[in-house]
Amino acid sequence: MNSVREPIAVIGTGYVGLVTAAGFAQLGREVFCVDIDAEKIGRLERGEIPIFEPGLAECVVSNRDRLRFSTELAPALEHARLLFVAVGTPPTYSGDADLSAVNAVVDAMPRSDRHALVMKSTVPVGTGAAIRRGFEQRGKGGFAYVSCPEFLKEGSALEDFFKPDRVVVGDQGDWAGDAVIELYAPLDAPLVRTDIASAEMIKLAANAFLATKISFINEIANVCEETGADVLEVARGMGLDQRIGKHFLKPGIGFGGSCFPKDVSALKQLAGNSGYHFQLLTAVIEVNELQKRRVISKLQKHLGSLVGKTVALLGLAFKANTDDMREASSLVLSARLQADGAKVRAYDPIAEAEARKLMGGVDFADDALGAVAGADAVVIVTEWPEFAELDWSVAAERMPDRLVIDGRNFVDPEAVRAAGFIYEGIGR
Ligand SMILES: NC(=O)c1ccc[n+]([C@@H]2O[C@H](COP(=O)([O-])OP(=O)(O)OC[C@H]3O[C@@H](n4cnc5c(N)ncnc54)[C@H](O)[C@@H]3O)[C@@H](O)[C@H]2O)c1
Repeated sequence: MNSVREPIAVIGTGYVGLVTAAGFAQLGREVFCVDIDAEKIGRLERGEIPIFEPGLAECVVSNRDRLRFSTELAPALEHARLLFVAVGTPPTYSGDADLSAVNAVVDAMPRSDRHALVMKSTVPVGTGAAIRRGFEQRGKGGFAYVSCPEFLKEGSALEDFFKPDRVVVGDQGDWAGDAVIELYAPLDAPLVRTDIASAEMIKLAANAFLATKISFINEIANVCEETGADVLEVARGMGLDQRIGKHFLKPGIGFGGSCFPKDVSALKQLAGNSGYHFQLLTAVIEVNELQKRRVISKLQKHLGSLVGKTVALLGLAFKANTDDMREASSLVLSARLQADGAKVRAYDPIAEAEARKLMGGVDFADDALGAVAGADAVVIVTEWPEFAELDWSVAAERMPDRLVIDGRNFVDPEAVRAAGFIYEGIGR
């Protein structure tokens, strides 16, 4: 297995799978990419990248000769021994992780003593053990299993692939774990080699901790609003303490995205299923839900009833530099605003196509100034760099009422106020 040329396979070519495939191709590996979505595979074969992720299109194109795309597993099984699994694990209604896609992949594995499943999908603790038990029961005990959770961030996913804070490998000390470690060796990242259950828990605990940090600073922000403190000053003063650290202390309109909400909920459910009530995470989730809705009360404070008012949402993606709309705060905002009788105008430089699939009744504009024209209020929802450059004096000319709620504390309050707006951020 030491050959640099030995191919690998990646099953599931979404945000994680495609980035992983492109990254390993860039490191010189031939990568067999498999997905059940024939349209996605067709686009990839034609050189079209189905998602927006900085640098990804260039990386896929420049490594095209090492990337094979198919809906068939057979070529991957023939050529590769390590089969990375990067299929989705969305939440079910109960908040548990939906493992149906993972199980479909597991069920499709043949009897083999030369392959290993390398789990990149985020799964509940115990999944690896259950999969291994299932393999044993079906006479597939020779199939090796490695947990290799993924920590990349959408928006900087490729950069995170090449410079991970750590690589976590959970295995049984067999050839497959050695092979995964060897594969990641060129990245020279700190390695945590551990048992499978601990690797699974590292991923869930890391995301739950980051989400807790966000909900914590959001609550501090809310108290700052009541007490006259400026949360940005508070966060700076806190973050310089090395025991705390400055990251994830940005107050805003709550976390969204495909990972934090579902992983926090999955860990809470996992704890509950094993008889432990994870109180802290219950609060983290509740604070996050309330935080999204605080924007509505801020609007009502200034505008009174929202019936018939037009609110412009600037940015829809759950964060900047991605087109991912999964669990975006904009979805809750748009629904709440419309339920309260407001009209919603929206603009996002990248995520509009995804947003259109998920948001009903919204009037989409071609640019930020188009969105604010005639609006009673503007809400900054996503911190797209172009909103920091917006000419607020031009925006003011187009708006009868001048109110900006900055859900990300992103634009310059002085510039906004100088243009005649009322400005309200979060926690300041
Ligand atoms: N997106 C992130 O930022 C991120 C970061 C770390 C970990 N994760 C985890 O990685 C996993 C994948 O997340 P994602 O955001 O890349 O999901 P995604 O929805 O973007 O991609 C999943 C892909 O898997 C494909 N798929 C589903 N069932 C399949 C099957 N049986 N065989 C082959 N392909 C199949 C889908 O068609 C889709 O293309 C999840 O468990 C997620 O929690 C995601």
